[in-house]
Amino acid sequence: MSAEKPRIAVCPGSYDPVTNGHVDIIGRASRVFDKVVVGVVNQPVRKQKTLFTAEERKAFLEDATADLGNVEVEVFSNLLVEFAREKGATAVVKGLRAISDFEYEFEMNQLNRLLAAEIESMYIFASAAYSFLSSTGVKEMATFGGDVSELVPEPVAQQLAERLKRS
Ligand code: PNS
Repeated sequence: MSAEKPRIAVCPGSYDPVTNGHVDIIGRASRVFDKVVVGVVNQPVRKQKTLFTAEERKAFLEDATADLGNVEVEVFSNLLVEFAREKGATAVVKGLRAISDFEYEFEMNQLNRLLAAEIESMYIFASAAYSFLSSTGVKEMATFGGDVSELVPEPVAQQLAERLKRS
């Protein structure tokens, strides 16, 4: 029997910064696929300037996924489907929280399918504990001195406190 091609998925996002919800989705994807490439979008189009640089966001993700042997992290600046093709991925995997995510993801899925019908968009439902969690919410909490240590990896919490806390 010939060896099967490894199943590779891309988990794309702004990750500004990575939350425990992202880490949960990446970990669950890593159990379904042979390899997961976390794609950190360099400059998100629909969002304002990022708080953390692409290299900082990448470093946070590498630290948070260090225990997962089949996960790697890369920054990308091109179309998501082109990045997925470059990586030999057959799927793009994202987390889905509430109905509010659905409309945006529905549009993204259709656009990406127009561009590359062979790459399947797949969604993993957020764990209940993280169904409310977003990078934006975490940044807002940290801005006002809220404790985000249960919501993001430890190095992220530290950096957020340093950069955002209003005196
Ligand atoms: O974490 P986000 O901000 O929801 O991630 C959005 C992301 C990175 C998945 C999306 O903006 C993206 O794929 N950007 C790359 C450009 C692209 O391919 N856009 C979609 C097809 S036009």
